[in-house]
Amino acid sequence: MTQTYDLIVKGGQVFTPGGLVACDVGIRAWRFAALGDLRTASAGSVFDAKGLTVLPGVIDEQVHFREPGPTHKEDLESGTRGAALGGVTAVFEMPNTDPPTTTAEAMADKVRRATGRSWTDFAFYVGASPENAGQLAALERVPACAGIKMFMGSSTGSLLVRDDENIARVLASGTRRVTVHSEDDMRLVERNPMVKDGADVSMHPEWRDVETAVRSTQRLLTLARKAGRRVHVLHVSTAEEMELLAQHRDIATVEVLPQHLTLAAPECYQRLGTLAQMNPPIRDARHRDALWRAINDGVVDCMGSDHAPHTLEEKSRPYPRSPSGLTGVQTLVPLMLDHVAQGRLSLQRFVELTSAGVQRVFGVAGKGRIALGYDADLTVADLKAKRTIENKWIASKTGWTAFHGMQVTGWPKATIIRGNIVMRDDELVAKQIGQAVRFQETL
Ligand code: DOR
Repeated sequence: MTQTYDLIVKGGQVFTPGGLVACDVGIRAWRFAALGDLRTASAGSVFDAKGLTVLPGVIDEQVHFREPGPTHKEDLESGTRGAALGGVTAVFEMPNTDPPTTTAEAMADKVRRATGRSWTDFAFYVGASPENAGQLAALERVPACAGIKMFMGSSTGSLLVRDDENIARVLASGTRRVTVHSEDDMRLVERNPMVKDGADVSMHPEWRDVETAVRSTQRLLTLARKAGRRVHVLHVSTAEEMELLAQHRDIATVEVLPQHLTLAAPECYQRLGTLAQMNPPIRDARHRDALWRAINDGVVDCMGSDHAPHTLEEKSRPYPRSPSGLTGVQTLVPLMLDHVAQGRLSLQRFVELTSAGVQRVFGVAGKGRIALGYDADLTVADLKAKRTIENKWIASKTGWTAFHGMQVTGWPKATIIRGNIVMRDDELVAKQIGQAVRFQETL
């Protein structure tokens, strides 16, 4: 009997659980239904993937989309549009919105806002605060919750849990992953005078120095071990933290960002000024090299973009009044495929960091691999395409990328979400069909 599928992705190199193989992918009822030779099968439609590489859908586990609140910078529609154009199939969005996402009502509000407007699948973090620390066990079980986010150091927005006592209270409530912005707030405040009346932006990694990050991560690991709670340390930026984290693999997982892997001080501040300003800061090449080593030594679990849009007008305020953050959700895939093309990163490691690793750390249900029965999410890439990243391609309301003018090898050709072709050849070709991501612990 001839099998029928809704969509067949034909003739690509497919990243199956057994490795990269030439085969067809049959999709039925939004899920992967067959991997193999489907020449004789019929299908509602066929996507010709000849010459292309078919990867598990990229999940960006750290984006800031600013809704509700400062939606002049971004909103859930524009943010997810950039994601889909950049080959990303799902995003986990951060709670430092206005109001911050610290209650069940605020979480439900975000889900309502995303439904019908989101181009990709989505989940949201609950923000930890001293006020809600005792209720996190209940809050982490609301629909579409990716986990908890705790800011140990002040950054954009008002969320902050700076002292050991409250950090311990956050870690004591609940079981799901606590993701952490790890910078020691006491040291940030103490050192703030060195920049507060104005300084060159190249002072950013001096103010928010290596010790600020290391001290915080040390405190976090001690408290996590005491509580027996697994933590996910976001945007790790120093060689010293990687050494420390390698000693605590049972309790802590690690995220790195394309910005920290691609740019380095002092060059990035000379060339980009405040467009390179983010927290934790981009540091010198010694640290960048250590992050690469940690990727290839297996210390790193996930990669997110930390898409943190601010307008060019806001970014042009004199440092340190200029806000911290770079856009990134749309450039994650091309930048990292370029690192693959340059031989710094294997395709297998790219896939682990952007899909299977995210599934493992966050307990995503039914996403993160090309496997029968899983949601049919695919990032279809042309690994040989030579393109230039340009501001005019960027969908963010802010309209800029720190990588404007960069030539890359490797580009997302299509974004397929649960069997729907959402982006093809840089065009959006479907509706806003984004749905909430499901998680194993809250099914
Ligand atoms: O640079 C940053 N920007 N780091 C953060 O932790 C927050 C982010 C933002 O939301 O702007």
